[in-house]
Amino acid sequence: MAKLSIRDLDLNNKRVFIRVDFNVPLTEDGTAITDDTRIRATLPTIVYALKHHAKVILASHLGRPKGKPNPKYSLRPVVDRLRELLDAELSRSINVAFSPDCVGEVASELARQLESGQVLLLENLRYHAAEEANDPQFSSALASLGEIYVNDAFGSAHRAHASTEGITHFLKPAAAGLLMEKELTYLGKALEAPEKPFVAIIGGSKISGKIDVIDNLLDKVNTLVIVGGMAYTFQRALGVTTGKSLVEEDKIEVAREALAKAKANGVELLLPVDNILADSFAPDANTQPWDSSVNFPADWQGLDIGPKTVALIVDVVSKARTILWNGPAGVFEFPAFAIGTNAIAHAVAANTEAISIIGGGDSVSAINQAGVADKITHISTGGGASLEFLEGKKLPGVEALTEK
Ligand code: 3PG
Repeated sequence: MAKLSIRDLDLNNKRVFIRVDFNVPLTEDGTAITDDTRIRATLPTIVYALKHHAKVILASHLGRPKGKPNPKYSLRPVVDRLRELLDAELSRSINVAFSPDCVGEVASELARQLESGQVLLLENLRYHAAEEANDPQFSSALASLGEIYVNDAFGSAHRAHASTEGITHFLKPAAAGLLMEKELTYLGKALEAPEKPFVAIIGGSKISGKIDVIDNLLDKVNTLVIVGGMAYTFQRALGVTTGKSLVEEDKIEVAREALAKAKANGVELLLPVDNILADSFAPDANTQPWDSSVNFPADWQGLDIGPKTVALIVDVVSKARTILWNGPAGVFEFPAFAIGTNAIAHAVAANTEAISIIGGGDSVSAINQAGVADKITHISTGGGASLEFLEGKKLPGVEALTEK
């Protein structure tokens, strides 16, 4: 990697300001964490810093509190969870202090008092509007807390905010954490030097959020599989009517262009050959399998891919050497229409010869529900960030890091 890594630095006795992405889901009242994946994903960096005798300062956003303190978005519930995880990792009791504000006198004093091997977690950065505004004064106030800057928040790297970009103008060196490095390595290799055949499976409800990803991948992959709600817009582009299925009328032309680009590039574009149609958008709707090349009955809608499509995907995935999957194949939240998504999860996991990369909440949930996460090479912690990366965009939080 061209950017400096935390592994290149001497952390001994230094205050290391680590931007993490602890934007974790909480219970409605904001008191308990419902999924700690993002905290666990950052542990290697925190543990590395502690083992190298750093004084660790952690900063993150949580949710979108719109520039004002709001207890619903407090990072306080993270303290206990983090302490438990660190104690287990290091087999000793780790001191994790909490600062009720991320800047100001209390934060400065707590940072000054830190001893090596101790951790200080700062309250939500987005309690200050200056964070998202990338305000230089706020960046400088954050920078004053540390002596070294590390960005491990891949999930926020597409944001040019004070804690991801602005701070690097005041605090150097600015290095990548281990999670950031891992994300960039796997996603970067998939785009720049994938082992072939390279198969990408892109799903989800709408083309609009993923058209730039599709466009970029059409220059890289051997096979592009399109599933989920967005496939119906492609089917319309092929001249098939799709009943009440989700279709973005204003994107039919975009789908047509993607089909033409696939053809021009010699990319196999695999669309569903059969669908599971439902007579309403409900978990207990009546269903029937349907040949995708035949006009859908007017009152029915496609909510999943059918068994023939699953068989085609299983076949193409089994021969791949690089697999990228982002987005579900159907209405995954209804068990009756999660069959295609689950089948993809198992197919990707079954190919242990390939480098497999999963992104997007539903695909990651499907992998976890199928109990096959340990068979996947890399599960990305980035939602918007991984999509922007796959679009080929430069991420401001990465660009701002010091060159090696
Ligand atoms: C995410 O969850 O994708 C990141 O934490 C970024 O959050 P944001 O979309 O609110 O900036």
